[in-house]
Amino acid sequence: MFHVKQSEKASPKDSFGMDTPLARELADLSARRRVLEEVKVDFSGETRVLTVSNQKGGVGKTTSAVNIASALAGLGAKVLVIDLDPQGNASTALGVPHNADTPSVYDVLIDELPLADIVQQSPEDENLFCAPSTIHLAGAEIELVAQVAREHRLRRALDDYLATNPVDFVIIDCPPSLGLLTINAFTAAREVFIPIQCEYYALEGLSQLLGSIQMIQKHLNPDLHLSTILLTMFDGRTRLAQQVAEEVRTHFPEQVLDTVIPRSVRVSEAPSFGQTVIAYDGQSAGAVAYREAAVEIASRHATQSKEK
Ligand SMILES: Nc1ncnc2c1ncn2[C@@H]1O[C@H](COP(=O)(O)OP(=O)(O)O)[C@@H](O)[C@H]1O
Ligand SMILES: [Mg+2]
Repeated sequence: MFHVKQSEKASPKDSFGMDTPLARELADLSARRRVLEEVKVDFSGETRVLTVSNQKGGVGKTTSAVNIASALAGLGAKVLVIDLDPQGNASTALGVPHNADTPSVYDVLIDELPLADIVQQSPEDENLFCAPSTIHLAGAEIELVAQVAREHRLRRALDDYLATNPVDFVIIDCPPSLGLLTINAFTAAREVFIPIQCEYYALEGLSQLLGSIQMIQKHLNPDLHLSTILLTMFDGRTRLAQQVAEEVRTHFPEQVLDTVIPRSVRVSEAPSFGQTVIAYDGQSAGAVAYREAAVEIASRHATQSKEK
């Protein structure tokens, strides 16, 4: 089983100009890169559908969706990202055109255009695909209210698509709300993936999200469950970040990935180049962490299904 330990964090007294902690971190990063070069993951042929959700904005949903997707594609998986946020940030990061005239998820949800008609290949990886969002999707939240089977539209479109275009992973990037777009994602997915930013209010609102998942389980999709939590934007120098991480692990020991995503400038600048950090700087600390998280996601599931 694959496992990479996070770097030991420097104690405060080390941080006065001595290069020891930095040297240690760099050596550690090289060792982690070498481990990643050796990793082999088998994809079973079964499609896993994950929805990346958290009704808070700015916690790393889109960043995690596109980087995990790209890292999984790099491991040999065929991956479809569905951009369900009218902001279209996932489409941007995957380098996929999504101006107002681009056929998008809006046309799929409202006009029942087949998903296959809107899916584009990301220039980043031949295994990586994106169903783009456009600004029109902002109106879909309201327009969906009057539609037949309004909660199931994405699921139906996805089922049709997968029947002729099998993929290993579908990753849905949700907007920061619990409206009909997110409900469509919850109905189409089996697994909920929650990124949590390691800051003071991290757990606030989480019980509301868990309540929504339970409600969807009961009424719309009995298979839905919280499978994965990823701690993001971690700053190991702060005591608070460590406390939040510990608290989340105590509450969700099964779901939290061992890998933690550090706060990193490379991660935040990649989208302005229309790239994920995996393509932009695949050996940087943030990219290495996302690649490790992807390996964990892929191999955890393999372990779980063997036990069944
Ligand atoms: N690990 C990270 N290090 C630095 N900046 C990050 C990191 N993860 C995300 N960001 C930045 O934080 C902001 C919010 O992230 P984003 O993924 O768009 O959140 P959400 O989709 O939940 O709104 C973006 O500007 C993004 O570039
Ligand atoms: Mg987002």
